[in-house]
Amino acid sequence: MIPPTQTRIEGPDSVANPALDIPDDASIDMSTILQESQVMEVLQKLDQELVGLKPVKTRIREIAALLLVDRMRHSFGLMTRPPTLHMSFTGSPGTGKTTVAMRMATILHRLDYVRKGHLVAVTRDDLVGQYIGHTAPKTKEILKRAMGGVLFIDEAYYLYRQENERDYGQEVIEILLQVMETQREDLVVILAGYKNRMETFFSSNPGFSSRIAHHLDFPDYSLEELLAIAQLILAEQMYRFSPEALSAFEAYLQRRMQMPRFSNARSVRNALDRARLRQANRLFAKGGKISKTDLMTIEAEDILASRVFTEDLPDDEQQSGTSQEPVFHDSDTSALC
Ligand SMILES: Nc1ncnc2c1ncn2[C@@H]1O[C@H](COP(=O)(O)OP(=O)(O)OP(=O)(O)O)[C@@H](O)[C@H]1O
Ligand SMILES: [Mg+2]
Repeated sequence: MIPPTQTRIEGPDSVANPALDIPDDASIDMSTILQESQVMEVLQKLDQELVGLKPVKTRIREIAALLLVDRMRHSFGLMTRPPTLHMSFTGSPGTGKTTVAMRMATILHRLDYVRKGHLVAVTRDDLVGQYIGHTAPKTKEILKRAMGGVLFIDEAYYLYRQENERDYGQEVIEILLQVMETQREDLVVILAGYKNRMETFFSSNPGFSSRIAHHLDFPDYSLEELLAIAQLILAEQMYRFSPEALSAFEAYLQRRMQMPRFSNARSVRNALDRARLRQANRLFAKGGKISKTDLMTIEAEDILASRVFTEDLPDDEQQSGTSQEPVFHDSDTSALC
C-alpha cells in the first residue's frame, strides 16, 4: 500500500523525483479513490437518467478513467501535465448537449480536475460587446465566472464571421484561444452546436481545433429512444400514459419528427407539458370525484387533441388559431405540440 493521494515520500531524491523513492511493485487500491471521489454514482446516474447516447457515455467513462489513473499516478509521484480536456459537443437541438455538459462538470470536479465544477453556459451575445473596447472586458468577466468549472459556448460558430474581419467575435476568439492554452488546468471549454457548422468553424479556426481534445457527437434520437425519454420524464413527474395514450404519443412523435423545428428530447418535454395542461383541463371540466389514478394518468385524448394531428404547420406559423385549443406562447419557438 502507498500513502494517500498527495502524500510525499521523504528521501534524499524526493525533491528531484519523488517517484524514484517508491518501489515499482508498490500498489494502490482503486476502490479507495473511487469511493473518495464518488464518481461512480455520477456515471451510474448518467446511465440511468439519460436514454441512449451510447458513444457519448462511453467517451465520458474513458475520460473518467483517464482522470482516475492520473490521480493514482500522482500518488506515486508520477508527474504528468494534466490532460487537455476542452471538448466539442455536436448535434441537433435537444439531443442532450447542455444536460451532458452539466454532468461532465460534476465528474471533472469529483475527479479533482476543476476546483468548483460549475457550468457557465453562454452564447455569442454574452461574450461580444456592441462597441469598440467592450468585448474584451465582457469576455474576461465571463471567463472569470467560469474559472474552476466549465465554460459552455452554445452555437460557438457565431463567434466567427468570415465576411467581416473586424467583427468583435474575432477578439473573443483570440482571448479564448489564449486562455484555453494557458489556463487549461482551471477551466474546461466546451464548444457546442450543429455538426456541419462546427466543422466549418474548426476548419476556419485551426487554433480551436488543435486545442479540443474530445469531439463528442450527439446523434438524433430514434422513435424508440424518444418514447423511452417520454416515459422517463413522466415518471420523474409522477405521471404515466394509459396504454392508449402511449400509442397516441407514438403516433404523435411519428408525425412531429417529420415537421419543421423538431427538437428531439426538448420537443418531447414540451409535448408532455401540453399533455399535462390538457389533462388538467379535462379533469377540471369533468368535476366531481377525481381519483389518484385520474391525477396520474395521461389519456389518449390529451395527446390526440394536439394540432400535430389536425394541421400541417407549426403553431408559430399560423396566423390565427382556428382550433378549440388556446394558442400558447412559450419561450421555445421550436415548440409544436
Ligand atoms: N438522453 C436523454 N434522456 C433523457 N432526457 C433527455 C435526454 N437528452 C435530452 N433530454 C432532455 O431534453 C431536454 C433538452 O436537452 P438539452 O437542453 O440538454 O439539449 P441540447 O442538445 O443542449 O439542445 P440545444 O442544442 O437546443 O441547446 C432536457 O430537458 C433534457 O433533460
Ligand atoms: Mg443546449
